[in-house]
Amino acid sequence: MRRVHVSHLRPAMALGKPLYDRNGRVLLAAGVPLNARFIEALQARGYTSVYVRDGLADDVAPADLISEEVRMVASSHLEALFTIVTKVSEHGEPRKPSSWPGETWRVIESLYRDVEDILDEVFASEAFDGMAAVKSHDSYTYEHSVETTVVGVMLGKRLGLQREDLRQLGLGCLLHDIGKRGVPTEVLNKPGPLTSQELAQVKEHPRIGFELIKSLDLDSPVPQHIAWQHHEKQDGTGYPRGLHGTNRVVRSIADLGVPGRIMLLAELAAVADVFSALASDRPFRPALPPEEVARTLRALAGSHLNREVVDAFFRVVPTFPMGLRVVLNGAPFDGWRGVVVAVHPSQLHRPVVRLLQDSAGREVPHAEIDLRRYPDVSLSSERIDSEAGSAPPRTVWDPLRA
Ligand SMILES: [Fe+2]
Ligand SMILES: [Fe+2]
Repeated sequence: MRRVHVSHLRPAMALGKPLYDRNGRVLLAAGVPLNARFIEALQARGYTSVYVRDGLADDVAPADLISEEVRMVASSHLEALFTIVTKVSEHGEPRKPSSWPGETWRVIESLYRDVEDILDEVFASEAFDGMAAVKSHDSYTYEHSVETTVVGVMLGKRLGLQREDLRQLGLGCLLHDIGKRGVPTEVLNKPGPLTSQELAQVKEHPRIGFELIKSLDLDSPVPQHIAWQHHEKQDGTGYPRGLHGTNRVVRSIADLGVPGRIMLLAELAAVADVFSALASDRPFRPALPPEEVARTLRALAGSHLNREVVDAFFRVVPTFPMGLRVVLNGAPFDGWRGVVVAVHPSQLHRPVVRLLQDSAGREVPHAEIDLRRYPDVSLSSERIDSEAGSAPPRTVWDPLRA
């Protein structure tokens, strides 16, 4: 199957993966042939791209760490909370804590349950094949927040954190951008650069988020501090307070209690947040291909992101996820095309690739090659249909807009 931009969908194409609605119910099953009405509905719902069957490697499912149902249900609970925030607040700031309506606590409980579900699924999956989930435009903040949660708790699990810490980290990641409710949507989704005044508005969202979550009076202060600190940088040039990091995971006794330090859980959230932002389509730029996501994360390690946390990220997240269509570079397969069919837990970045086409575009017998045996062969991802033509040009990533 291949990923196709919605503008390139045609009747009779068949979906490669089922699509779910906000309640986790199947909206369109895999294999269903599309018709004009379905295609219109997908566009109206804000989908950017979907997987369709193309007769090549349709048996290889694109990787995902958690089920689509859990993703969608958590997104819908998040949307419910954001809606309440809009109702009770002025510019995203609650007038007083008692102004939260009773339904708020039910939604918070649902979100904690969603975090438990995500944790269960993260703990149940021994090997991680990568993430190739498709995110849609209109619900970007919710789906981005859920993905940040999944990656954040996966990193926390890798670093051996206790389940209670992971639970608070999970809720903090889900709510990290709740302060965006205090930033005008036109500013958040503005294609092109922001004015200095608009930038100042965007930079308010961590503080607004902190105040909002604090006023919810949760059983732990961790989520509110994650929201407050998720745009801080190791070198102190982040916002809103210019806190510093040590680029280490383990804090020494001397480090404890030093004022102005970013807390570890917020550093995990920051790595997950940046990863998710880079790998998603945005109104002002399309998703970066996986190799550019990896390159950018490595470039940000040290100055922006905690270097040891980024190292841990690359020990759990393969650059090229299962199901990704790739182009091979280097002898003896230079210019060939294939699909990632297996990822080795011990060598995440040298997957097994099923060859589909030779360099002349001719279909080849579907042999599988293990890249561990071909050190001279590197991979780049095949661009999704439409990227060569109508999609907006790739621009430099703007970290203020994660
Ligand atoms: Fe943010
Ligand atoms: Fe974010």
